[in-house]
Amino acid sequence: MPAIRILPELLVSQIAAGEVVERPASVLKELLENSLDAGASSIAVTLEEGGVRRIQVEDDGGGIARDDLPLALASHATSKIRTLEDLEAVATMGFRGEALASIAAVARLSIVSRTADAAHAHAIRAEASGTSSPEPAARAPGTTISVADLYFNTPARKKFLRTQATEFAHCDEVFRRIALAHPDLEFTLRHNGRVSSHVRKQTLGERAAALLARDFVDASFVVDAQAGPLRLHGLAGAPQAARSRADMQYFFVNGRFVRDRLLAHAAREAWRELLHGDRQPAYLLFLELDPRGVDVNVHPAKTEVRFRDARAVHQFVLHAVGRALAPGAAEAPIAYAEVAQGPTPLRPAFQPRFGVEQPVAAYQSFVAAATQAAPLPASESAPPLGYALAQLHGVYILAQNEAGLVLVDMHAAHERIVMEKLRQSIDAGAVQRQRLLVPVVLRTEALDVATAEENAQALEALGLEVSVAGPNELAVRSAPALLANGDVAALVRSVLGELREFGAAQVLAARRDELLAGMACHAAVRANRVLAIPEMNALLREMETTERSGSCNHGRPTWYQLTLADLDKLFLRGR
Ligand SMILES: Nc1ncnc2c1ncn2[C@@H]1O[C@H](COP(=O)(O)OP(=O)(O)OP(=O)(O)O)[C@@H](O)[C@H]1O
Ligand SMILES: [Mg+2]
Repeated sequence: MPAIRILPELLVSQIAAGEVVERPASVLKELLENSLDAGASSIAVTLEEGGVRRIQVEDDGGGIARDDLPLALASHATSKIRTLEDLEAVATMGFRGEALASIAAVARLSIVSRTADAAHAHAIRAEASGTSSPEPAARAPGTTISVADLYFNTPARKKFLRTQATEFAHCDEVFRRIALAHPDLEFTLRHNGRVSSHVRKQTLGERAAALLARDFVDASFVVDAQAGPLRLHGLAGAPQAARSRADMQYFFVNGRFVRDRLLAHAAREAWRELLHGDRQPAYLLFLELDPRGVDVNVHPAKTEVRFRDARAVHQFVLHAVGRALAPGAAEAPIAYAEVAQGPTPLRPAFQPRFGVEQPVAAYQSFVAAATQAAPLPASESAPPLGYALAQLHGVYILAQNEAGLVLVDMHAAHERIVMEKLRQSIDAGAVQRQRLLVPVVLRTEALDVATAEENAQALEALGLEVSVAGPNELAVRSAPALLANGDVAALVRSVLGELREFGAAQVLAARRDELLAGMACHAAVRANRVLAIPEMNALLREMETTERSGSCNHGRPTWYQLTLADLDKLFLRGR
């Protein structure tokens, strides 16, 4: 082996750069984070050729003083921390004093910067050969950092870059993450001379609608929970917002976008029973905590973090999201809630200039009949889901509430209500059982009979009393009161199937919700059953007080609001 040698400084920096500067998007991330740390309120990014030719970030932040300019480019030079204690409590995005030095080792970097109290700006240039001394320049207070010809001096590295379009897509994603985390700042992104994104200071909802999707925001619940030093806020997508890919999942810790297994797991758990199959939840969540409670110095790109109290964070996130996703129907996604906030002013029922006296009369008598069917109590405020008007094809309930028309999938809604009640009674260890007047006898395979015998206790816990009536026969003597009017034989068969496949322990713990959903399905009102108006109203009131009643056990919505405005639009009224 050759003798050990100290490497030249430039090579050291180039090796270090390999960790920080993986591609144009990583340069952009470092520059944007520096602008955030400098307290900018407006940040403009200019890219050329996917960032490979040029990445420029301009901000109106605090700027760098003339004498500090060379230091900004030096390795291990930072204005953000001084001691280990500072590092442990770091609240800025940067802290290593490494980013600009690394970038300067693999590209041509220049800075023009001016502090608020300086008479003019100063410029400095750095290339692999060294750093120029600061020269006077013109600029308003703030900083412009320009990075040109990435990897011009490390051609091997350059070969790993993808097409312009791919590199731009990565830059765009970095830009989006940072802009999402700072709706109170203005951002502009230009690529090859075109403005590809521009957002002014706005609310988080507006920012998310601008940079993600309006649909996502409309079908989201607002999350805002606080527990001691932990706060979680943002938007949690309702089941309607779920996607086939995990491509709308944004988690930020103290303003930093992270990919964290613990947080992802907590989120997955929170959505688990609302989403069926492999639907992926959509979310934009911000966790804030004391910087001392989280170590951000774990990963060169700072996209991973380590929590001091991981369990507490997991529980908090799980519950905060779970609560946001499980309001009774009374608090529904934003799209519904907007309507619920105040009654939509009723437009005049007719427009005389059209000369439609007759239809108007018919319409008015219809409205009168409808309101008779659903008398609104004069005193108390109207219930959120309103009062039932009619049943449609034995499948949907039509109800009138303050905002307009409510459509309810009665089977799906009932299933959810039954499941939630069942869950509560099992949690309380008190499943109310009903003795069947005539035991239900079912013919089964011998294996089912054995399963029933072995799992008598588990069946008990679920409110089922099953005894062996013959080598291939089981008799069901009691069933949970909630389910006793449903198809008891089918219910028992499906529970036995679960027990056989997964075992009692699994079924009662990890697979419990699937089991309960299956059980509820056998009891819920089937489509095509005629319900009387009072029965429908009873169902609506149950929905309002049941957790998670906005979606059925399989994650589909249970009800839908059509506002008067929606209906007017449909009929092109008022235009
Ligand atoms: N846009 C900017 N406005 C004002 N000061 C800046 C700006 N960009 C960089 N600086 C100054 O230059 C220093 C070096 O920046 P650099 O990004 O290399 O390191 P850092 O941000 O301190 O740490 P890290 O390596 O973790 O990013 C910063 O500490 C800061 O003082
Ligand atoms: Mg930095």
